[in-house]
Amino acid sequence: PHMMIAGATNTGKSIFFKSVLYSLLNSTNYRHLQLYIIDLKRGLEAVDFKEAPNVKIVKNIKEAVTLLTQIKAEMDRRFDILEARTDGKKIIVPEKDEVPRIVVAVDEASVLYMNRSRDDVDYKDVMQARQLADDISKLSRAAAIHLILATQKVEKNIIPTTVTENITGRMAFRANSFHGSNALLQSKDASDLPDIPGRGVWRVGSKKIVVQAPYIDEKQIKSLCQRIKEKVEENHPNKKSSLIGDDVQEKGNKARTNFDNKLQDGQNEKKTKESN
Ligand SMILES: Nc1ncnc2c1ncn2[C@@H]1O[C@H](COP(=O)(O)OP(=O)(O)OP(=O)(O)O)[C@@H](O)[C@H]1O
Ligand SMILES: [Mg+2]
Repeated sequence: PHMMIAGATNTGKSIFFKSVLYSLLNSTNYRHLQLYIIDLKRGLEAVDFKEAPNVKIVKNIKEAVTLLTQIKAEMDRRFDILEARTDGKKIIVPEKDEVPRIVVAVDEASVLYMNRSRDDVDYKDVMQARQLADDISKLSRAAAIHLILATQKVEKNIIPTTVTENITGRMAFRANSFHGSNALLQSKDASDLPDIPGRGVWRVGSKKIVVQAPYIDEKQIKSLCQRIKEKVEENHPNKKSSLIGDDVQEKGNKARTNFDNKLQDGQNEKKTKESN
C-alpha cells in the first residue's frame, strides 16, 4: 500500500517521514528493499540516509522525472513478469521472489502539485513527474512498489483525488483548517488536534487512532545507514550499486541470477556467523 503524511508546517511531518524510512531500513534485509527519496527541499532532510547503499536521494524535479521514469519502466517490467507467471501468483513477494521492494518517498510532495503556469521553466518536468506519480500510485502495489508522500496540503485542488484515493495509510498531523483535515481523513479530527509536534491521527481504511509519533534524530539514522553500508561491503566486496538508474545495475543484475545471490548471501551469512 501507499502512505500519505500531511499536516500544517512544523507539526512533525519530516520527522515522521524519516522515522518511517528508518523503520523500513531497520526491519528489512537490504537485499529486499530499495529506497528512493525525492526530497524537494533540496535534499536537506534526506541527507542523513545517504550512506546506505540501498538508498538513493534525488533533490530536484529534473532528477525526479528521470528516476520516476525508470521506476515506471521497472513497474512495467514487473507486471510483464507477473502476467507471464504460471503459478497463479499475481503479486510480488520480495522475500520469496528475491526482487527488492521499492519505496519511493517524496517529502514536500506539494511542490509537485503546486499550480504552475506554462511559462514556468520547470512546467514540463513537473507535469511529467505528476503523471508518473499518478501512474505509480494506481498500479504499483502488486509490483511491490510503494509511494510515501509527505505534504503540507492535501486539498483536492492540490493533490488530485486520483492519488489520494489510492493511498491506504494516512498520517494526519494538525491541520490549520477543516478542509485540510477533511481531505485526508474525511473528518475534522486533524484540525482538532492540540499543537504538539508529532501528535497526529493515523487512519487506515475506516479505522482511526490518535497517536504520538516517535522522535528520531540524525545520529540514529546515520548510524543505521553506516551499519547497512558495512554489511553490504562485507557481503559484496566488489559489487557496485544495484539501484535503479545507476549504470552498473543492468550488467550486475543479469550476470548474477537470483539463485546465485541467494546462494552467495547464504554462504556469507554462514561465514559471518562462524566468525562471530
Ligand atoms: N514526534 C515528535 N516528537 C517530538 N518533537 C517532534 C516530533 N516531530 C517533530 N518534532 C519537532 O517539531 C519540529 C518540526 O518537525 P518537522 O520538521 O518534522 O515538521 P514539518 O511538519 O516537516 O515542518 P515543515 O512543514 O516546515 O517541513 C522539529 O523541530 C522537531 O524537533
Ligand atoms: Mg518538513
